[in-house]
Amino acid sequence: MAFFRKAVIISLGGGRNPATSRFGIGKLTIKEEMMSNRWLSERIKGLGFSKIREVMGRVEEAKRKGIKITDLSIGRPDFDTPKHIKDAAAKALADGWVHYTASPGTLELREAICRRFQEDHQLKIDPSEIIVTTGAAEAIYIGLMSVLDPGDEVLVPEPMYVYYGGYVFLGGAKCVPVPLKEENQFLLKAEDLEKHITGKTKLLILNFPHNPTGQVLLREDLEAIARVAIRHNILVVADDIYNGMLYDGVEYFPLAKAEGMKERTLIIGSFSKTYAMDGWRIGYLIAPRELIAQTLKLHQHIVSCPNTFVQMGAQAALRSSQDCVRQMVAEFDRRRKKMMSRFDQMGIPYVRPRGAFYIFPSIKKFGLSSGQFVDFLFEKARVAVVPGDAFGPGGEGYVRVSYCAPVEEIEEAMDRVRSALAQLKGW
Ligand SMILES: Cc1ncc(COP(=O)(O)O)c(C=O)c1O
Repeated sequence: MAFFRKAVIISLGGGRNPATSRFGIGKLTIKEEMMSNRWLSERIKGLGFSKIREVMGRVEEAKRKGIKITDLSIGRPDFDTPKHIKDAAAKALADGWVHYTASPGTLELREAICRRFQEDHQLKIDPSEIIVTTGAAEAIYIGLMSVLDPGDEVLVPEPMYVYYGGYVFLGGAKCVPVPLKEENQFLLKAEDLEKHITGKTKLLILNFPHNPTGQVLLREDLEAIARVAIRHNILVVADDIYNGMLYDGVEYFPLAKAEGMKERTLIIGSFSKTYAMDGWRIGYLIAPRELIAQTLKLHQHIVSCPNTFVQMGAQAALRSSQDCVRQMVAEFDRRRKKMMSRFDQMGIPYVRPRGAFYIFPSIKKFGLSSGQFVDFLFEKARVAVVPGDAFGPGGEGYVRVSYCAPVEEIEEAMDRVRSALAQLKGW
């Protein structure tokens, strides 16, 4: 009974954080706050809420009040999922694909993932090296939980994706940020990485194309990083979920293709961005067989298997023509160029993004913190963006602006940003 009560409180998800009202579960009463304090584990207390979700909550609140906000904070395509993918999932449902599948996902879907890696990147993967997951989120979680122990150190280039620190914390390990410098185009340099390695370093989390900067590590730099990983016997998680979204002729090089890396790389994949399927919640983990075989236990404990008809949709996404992806990327590229030209006109510096759908301009000259700057744009320009410090202290002085909105909306929003910023010193 005591356990049951504890579980109910946890499901409210609030902890002591008064910001819960911004996350769609309503504000906790003082009594509930006290109760949660009494029951909550140190594990859950140690986690924070995502600042991106906080901005999303503000946008929704404003919209409910009838205030028009242009949302350039979102990290997902604004396009619908391509019709042939939706049709495949709808047909699967209609045909009765409503029961569990094999825990790692259907063999057909895992084969389709292998085929795409072979065709697109000439990387040989075996279906037995894959677990299909509930989004990349689960893939990262089960991957990290399978290899981390208390006392381990995990290197993460910073600014970093908002949840990495939390995952590392859940694994009982220590997150060691490796600063990404604007003067190096926010790219990780092997020599900087090596300076942060100690006898306790077990893992490196790489994420390129990078959220939030949009930068992409090229083959040469990746191979240098691979040599460091091998020299110090470090595992690497390659969170490559934006690998289908590249611009300026940049090519994706899977780290696992570098010599000696296949056996020490965990590849994180997702359908969320490439196929505009973020709400479907499907992704995958690719790792050496001996690891996958063990990681499967955790996957079974938390989800049993991925959603069945969603897997059918994902299979259609991979097996059909990739024209829908090319069209979407071409449109993102058009928006990227528009966004860059507007920042150029305003004299706001940024490093040219070459992947994903984010730009990370520096707002240092305005003399506001990134949080204050975001509040200012929200109030005065009715434009939502994400403060750089949502991605760790190294993101302070920047904001993340996504171009997941039609060009006309971006144009209008940037007009308002320009007028609002004219009121600030530093303009
Ligand atoms: C770098 C990175 N990794 C993982 C994820 C999670 O993706 P998914 O929707 O597949 O869980 C995101 C989502 O924004 C991301 O930006």
